[in-house]
Amino acid sequence: MIPVNEPLLNGREKELLAECVDTGWISSDGPFVRMFERNFSHYIGTKHGVAVCNGTAALETALFAAGVGKGDEVIMPAFTIVSCLVATLRLGAVPVLVDVKPATWGMDVEQISSRLTARTKAILPVHMYGHPVDMDPVLALARDYGLIVVEDAAEVHGAEYKGRKCGSLGHVSAWSFYANKIITTGEGGMVLTSDEGVAEKARSYRNLCFRGDRRFYHTEFGYNFRMSNLQAALGVAQLERVQEFVAIKRRLGHLYRAGLASIPGVRFQVEETWAKCVYWMYCIEIDTKLGFTADDARTALADRGIGTRPFFLGLHEQPAARDIGLFLGERYPVTERIARQGLYLPSGLTLTEAQVETVTTELRDVVSQLSAKRSVPSSGSV
Ligand SMILES: Cc1ncc(COP(=O)(O)O)c(C=O)c1O
Repeated sequence: MIPVNEPLLNGREKELLAECVDTGWISSDGPFVRMFERNFSHYIGTKHGVAVCNGTAALETALFAAGVGKGDEVIMPAFTIVSCLVATLRLGAVPVLVDVKPATWGMDVEQISSRLTARTKAILPVHMYGHPVDMDPVLALARDYGLIVVEDAAEVHGAEYKGRKCGSLGHVSAWSFYANKIITTGEGGMVLTSDEGVAEKARSYRNLCFRGDRRFYHTEFGYNFRMSNLQAALGVAQLERVQEFVAIKRRLGHLYRAGLASIPGVRFQVEETWAKCVYWMYCIEIDTKLGFTADDARTALADRGIGTRPFFLGLHEQPAARDIGLFLGERYPVTERIARQGLYLPSGLTLTEAQVETVTTELRDVVSQLSAKRSVPSSGSV
């Protein structure tokens, strides 16, 4: 089986974890937490880092710290992980959707202005699958309308927009270090910002809003979203190799691109001229004209020992959202199409060039067999 993902943990991870055990610093009070916050914020180019327990908590903490609260509207792409929705709803805020671009599968920024209202508080661009969102128009709108920009940078460690790192472009950004991310702490996340006030609110929120002046006295509610020293030790070791990891992702991305180019009806993620994509996942979209879905391809690839994952289902199609009356009657055609026609191929840092070649060869074969069968009518995809 060629797995869809595998972390690369052969740097100083064991050494730094052993240090935690030897010194007894295993909770969030340890020195690696501060070190990881400092090193990661420095790498991305922000003044402050606030480590938390996962990327979903990072989103909620970032939104809270940036001032999003009850009744505020947050504009986000329909095509994203449910974490964006959950984080918004937990703060009593209201999610407002736009569709995504067909080339990069990232937020269609041209649709944002039509969704603005007097209650709009924030824009939540999600840099998708390693590729940046076109941020200049987002930042211009934010300036013009006094909005906050919260970047979801969970999938773009090291990616750049016009020479600047994703996650340093808005007011605040949210990161994930889940095991499939470019650098990992197993589970983990971080909030980055250059605004001291936002950083202070984020530190407070992740730690139950304890007050410095009076212990166990609370004037606000927060959560225990703390990252442990053990997780941060992994993060410090991983970050030492981030440039090497990004280079691996890009090299494999270019190999996949070359290999997939000759498969008719299979499209790889486009790298825009203003972008440095880090190809977090090697994603493809299958043309509906071929007459089969991503699920059909995933089943056939699994039979050949190739691990894959489906794309996100649009937020507006999530039963849990519809059950509470959200997004009723709303349609986002690009999101709906790619949710059915998109998948990601083996994408781990341990992937070899030979494995990329095997995946491409098997995919070519699967595409030719399935399109010969035409398992679904070409009009039935959306
Ligand atoms: C775009 C995006 N945002 C947020 C998250 C949430 O991160 P976590 O799984 O660490 O909660 C993910 C997770 O994969 C993600 O892909």
